[in-house]
Amino acid sequence: MQTITNSTLLYDPRDPAVMADPFPAYRRLQTEDPVHWSPALKSWVITRYDDVKAVLLHDAMSVNKLDAFYQSLPADDAARMRDIIHYLKLWVAFQDPPDHTRMRMIMRKAFMASTYNNMEGAITGIVTQLLNDLDGNSEIDFIADYALLVPAYVIMDLLGLPRAQLRDIKKWADDMAVFIGGARNADDKYQRAESGCRNMADCFRKLINKTRQQGGEGFLPDLINAEFEGDSLNDDELIACCILVLFAGHETTTNLIGNSLLTLLRNPDSFSEFKSATEFNSTACEELMRYDGPSNGIVRSVTRDHELAGKTLRAGDRIYAMLNAANRDPIAFSNPDTIDLQRRPNRHLVFGTGIHSCLGVQLARQEGRIALREFVQRFPSATLITDKPPTWQDAMVPRGTKTLPINLN
Ligand code: HEM
Repeated sequence: MQTITNSTLLYDPRDPAVMADPFPAYRRLQTEDPVHWSPALKSWVITRYDDVKAVLLHDAMSVNKLDAFYQSLPADDAARMRDIIHYLKLWVAFQDPPDHTRMRMIMRKAFMASTYNNMEGAITGIVTQLLNDLDGNSEIDFIADYALLVPAYVIMDLLGLPRAQLRDIKKWADDMAVFIGGARNADDKYQRAESGCRNMADCFRKLINKTRQQGGEGFLPDLINAEFEGDSLNDDELIACCILVLFAGHETTTNLIGNSLLTLLRNPDSFSEFKSATEFNSTACEELMRYDGPSNGIVRSVTRDHELAGKTLRAGDRIYAMLNAANRDPIAFSNPDTIDLQRRPNRHLVFGTGIHSCLGVQLARQEGRIALREFVQRFPSATLITDKPPTWQDAMVPRGTKTLPINLN
């Protein structure tokens, strides 16, 4: 094995080979430098399961990465970024306690209400319609023609957005994603993100006003009416929540469905097993997301100097806690690089852990399971197109392919 003299050699997230398959780099980091300082990212990169969990559970870690960033911007840029920073600061995902606790407790009410918990029929209807549309095609892009559309329609239905707005919503979400996902090679990312956020906020402001006037049942009325200890969300907080839910429920689930199918098509034995074993379908889906999950990692910043696995993390340092690395840690999973569709227990960290763990986990699981099961049942002979390999997203946090060309027959 090559001797490491320069720590940057261990992990270069900009390398297209690493983007396509980061797992060998993760394993080297776990073995050689599990709490790794990356000069390229000016951040710590944490790869072992126990250390990733420790980061997510530690009270000296903050999700508020916006204040320092905003203060570091030149005045002109800061003025141009005003809206996106305003709404992102209201995201429960970017708030620390006590603000986080208040907002999460209110939001949870809507996630416990009946609309959110009765989406199975709606998801199956959406999936069936999309599969009907695919019938008769021989070659498709699984991402654009299916994996992107399922969660987009589900989350739009959940929020009460008309499906005709899909194209706009997708464009705004993509514009915001270059900022939030930490795209490395996009020059105009701040301008795009600001404009995407403004459009999205206008759209939700109108929808919230209309819902307040007309009342009715659904997730948005549930969110508007949600109360905890007599407190509810104001209009800007509601807009921020809607943007977050749309965002969180959109790209992640697309990547979940896309990565899972790619894994199955690259592993014919697992594909055959998946097709024939419907009774452990949900166990199988958990394993597919452990094997190649939809988020590479989660970002935190250190609020107080402390030690992690012998290294000193200083207040202000940025941390990438790599979920996908943790989920392949040999100390936590036996044969981590083998797909075992019956793996139990499977304590993967795909949905995070601790106070910020995913609020939409139930919907995400349900969507992933139904979307994959129905697709595979309808097109059991699907194969990859060998001369059109998938292209991977240029992003540090989301993990998914931009395209996934497949043959249906
Ligand atoms: C496959 C799909 C999904 C994955 C992999 C996923 C993953 C995650 C992860 C890892 C976190 C924790 C982030 C952190 O600790 O910083 C999170 C938070 C969150 N997720 Fe999801 N998510 C998915 C789908 C959804 C859906 C469908 C919704 C909404 C309907 C949703 C709503 C949220 C919210 C609101 C938070 C913030 C919770 C908080 O900060 O307290 N997610 N998600």
